[in-house]
Amino acid sequence: MIVAIDGPAGAGKSTVARAVAARLGFAFLDTGALYRCAVLYGLQRGLPPEDVVEEMDVRLGERILLDGEDATSAIRESHISRLTPAAAARPELRHALTVKQRGLLAHGNWVAEGRDIGTVVVPHAEVKVFLTASVEARARRRAAESDEDVEAVRLALVERDRLDSIREHGPLHAAVDAIEIDTTHIGLEEAIDAVIALVPEAYTQAPALFAVSPEGTAPPRKRRRRSAQNPARR
Ligand code: DC
Repeated sequence: MIVAIDGPAGAGKSTVARAVAARLGFAFLDTGALYRCAVLYGLQRGLPPEDVVEEMDVRLGERILLDGEDATSAIRESHISRLTPAAAARPELRHALTVKQRGLLAHGNWVAEGRDIGTVVVPHAEVKVFLTASVEARARRRAAESDEDVEAVRLALVERDRLDSIREHGPLHAAVDAIEIDTTHIGLEEAIDAVIALVPEAYTQAPALFAVSPEGTAPPRKRRRRSAQNPARR
């Protein structure tokens, strides 16, 4: 069972997707974090992000571990936030990460959050949501979280929406069969309930039966080889 939640920055995707995953006992996939990890990992190795995707071992949970190192704060630093939109527009990176995301989503039950989950990555997802809100509402929420000026945040969001929507590969738009939930005038709790209401009852009645633990993203073959060469890394 896959619940795909796409939408623009600041609509509440992260909060809603995380809460829905916790309530259902599903694993949570923050695909923005994968894009950020690829950019950071590429920078650390002096390589284009698409060239490091296959080997990078990302563990997604409370903390984000990149090759065993805690990268939770590093991937949110401002230079990574600045570099990621342009990297995410590159077809090579989108392709590499689409393969990685499909690998993860192939097993178990997931709530996956991003921009093109329901349109490109897993168009067969059983539940597809497009979570949106007016740019003013999104700017107010983001500014409240970060103490930044609302107007500056609004202008930055307008530019991010533009870049995310006009890119040729994986542009941001709702899947034709996605249910749109507009959070401009509703609280995030209401949005969470609205998403849960779309999930078949069998999954909401006995969440523990469907729980899975998130796995690392490196192919097992590579992890085994590295451990064999260097048992100290185990
Ligand atoms: O959601 P976020 O701010 O962490 O995303 C970081 C960047 O990655 C943002 O520019 C949008 C892009 N992104 C994307 O293009 N496709 C996704 N599935 C997730 C994020």
